[in-house]
Amino acid sequence: MIIVGGSSSRDLAAETASILGCKYIEAATVRFPDGECYTRIEEESLDDDVAIIQNTYPDENLVEMFLLQDAVKRAGAKTVTIVVPYFGYARQDRVFKNGEPESAKVMCKLLAMGCDRVVTIDLHKEAVLEFFDRPYKDLKAANAMGDYFKGKGIDMVFSPDIGAAGRAKMVGERMGIPYDHLEKKRLSGTEVVIQPAKSDVKGKSVLIVDDMISTGGTIRTATTQLKAAGAKSVTVACTHGVYVNDALKKMDESDIDELLSCNTLISKTSKISVAGMIAEALKEKW
Ligand code: R5P
Repeated sequence: MIIVGGSSSRDLAAETASILGCKYIEAATVRFPDGECYTRIEEESLDDDVAIIQNTYPDENLVEMFLLQDAVKRAGAKTVTIVVPYFGYARQDRVFKNGEPESAKVMCKLLAMGCDRVVTIDLHKEAVLEFFDRPYKDLKAANAMGDYFKGKGIDMVFSPDIGAAGRAKMVGERMGIPYDHLEKKRLSGTEVVIQPAKSDVKGKSVLIVDDMISTGGTIRTATTQLKAAGAKSVTVACTHGVYVNDALKKMDESDIDELLSCNTLISKTSKISVAGMIAEALKEKW
């Protein structure tokens, strides 16, 4: 297998190739003066199974992925697996109001045209995977999170809502500590209310896990609630640190004691690597 790293995911792709002990090629991607993408695989011939690791968010990375799919095919790739650490448009998985597109389905159909298999990580809505007319795997970062925090003094794991309760369970079980979920109600795109925790958190070091942090509203409200209930410290970990606008600054100024994310999106918090699980998935026959 050959791993090709797109510009959004170079370190992750290089780390994955090193774990697999296989060849790594960094796509030579630059932008034309008008902003359009130029990319090139600087290799005579690929003649092997190829995995491209590249995000499809923001839009410019999606375009780079389309171009890379074509480039590796032209260079002789026998099969093409796309690994999309953070898959954009997964939240618009249906038509909510008349006149809207089914964005997630559009992206899946277009991406499927240039590949044989698809790997995603903690996709916001797993149902989206069914839009891929290709074999797919959605990897769960919970074990990587659990392993990262093992032995770091965490007493209990929470998810900020019931939808992510399964993630808190997986992380808690991996760490061998109790877990629970909070109850969240979304008021608007930026506002949420969270009910007080049912479990006793007084004096405890708590970890909140979520799939993504966008505005940070969910996590900041959950942290305030847990601290008000007496938690000694609140550490936060998400798979995808999207951090729109000034979300990181707001979280720096909040009650959160430590904030970490996986390296699906790169920022100062992306310290939990998902390379090991991508390597495992690429090794398997499926
Ligand atoms: C919700 O279903 C998700 O799991 C996240 O909790 C949510 O997308 C986070 O968004 P924000 O950071 O804007 O509150």
